Amino acid sequence: MAAFVAHELVKRYGATVALGGVSLEVGEGELVGLLGPNGAGKSTLVKIGCGLVRASEGHADVCGAPAGSKEARASLGYLAELFRFPGWLTAGEVLKLHQDLVGSTRGTAERKELLSLVGLGEVGERRVDAMSKGMQQRLGIAQALVGSPRLLMLDEPTSALDPAGRRAVRDILEEVRARGISVLLNSHLLSEVELVCDRVIILLAGEIVAEGTPQDLTAARGVEIETDSGSRRWDEAGRDDIPALVAQLVAEGAHIYGVRTSKPTLEEVYLEAVRGEMG
Ligand SMILES: Nc1ncnc2c1ncn2[C@@H]1O[C@H](COP(=O)(O)OP(=O)(O)OP(=O)(O)O)[C@@H](O)[C@H]1O
Ligand SMILES: [Mg+2]
Repeated sequence: MAAFVAHELVKRYGATVALGGVSLEVGEGELVGLLGPNGAGKSTLVKIGCGLVRASEGHADVCGAPAGSKEARASLGYLAELFRFPGWLTAGEVLKLHQDLVGSTRGTAERKELLSLVGLGEVGERRVDAMSKGMQQRLGIAQALVGSPRLLMLDEPTSALDPAGRRAVRDILEEVRARGISVLLNSHLLSEVELVCDRVIILLAGEIVAEGTPQDLTAARGVEIETDSGSRRWDEAGRDDIPALVAQLVAEGAHIYGVRTSKPTLEEVYLEAVRGEMG
């Protein structure tokens, strides 16, 4: 069963269409990255999944239960994009509070395990006020994992992190995936998404404009062949087209001196998808 399903989700805020009919799935144990410019509708989608925002049309399910229902909420962990924990609580107390909220009975053992998972094993007694932004963000991820959810919804969990912190979160996400937990990750950090996600979905103005594995999205496209009469380019061709192109040129009497394919970065694919649609 899919961990998260959005079916034809529409969300209107007055005249603003935040989601214009979005359908997507996060499979069991899958790590899906949701990309898109500011205002694309990423947070709106996640909030609908958490039951914090009601869809105008369409529906969403979490582990087979309607989004917002008690069963759905029990199956997911959420880290909001602009969260703030009470500054006077210690890291351990923040987790205790969330254990009480979700009804987790795993007590100290769970708190210890989660703090150590996010690299805060030594600072469980430190107050939130005395923690750096990056530490608070990692505490936020630990908080989302309280109660052993099947699905994690993380809204930009690395926005405050330095490169080492981002690397640490990537490692945490890989550990989370190894435990079979599904993840929907909102991010603006393309290189990070490319490194960690099984699948990437690009949202623009409430519509999906591109979708695929990072490998598929950045697959080589465009072939350049150097012949005795100069260099020729086929923008739409891929690696699989090379034998036929070469055979055709040879049959036409050309001499081939070189063949090259070009592979775009995820950033190039993203900018193309976003600019292409924006015209
Ligand atoms: N509570 C609200 N009331 C009115 N409009 C809203 C509300 N929440 C979001 N919007 C609008 O819906 C659209 C999508 O917003 P959303 O926060 O989902 O985008 P986002 O992709 O998460 O952007 P960002 O990358 O900046 O976090 C935007 O036009 C936003 O202004
Ligand atoms: Mg957002």
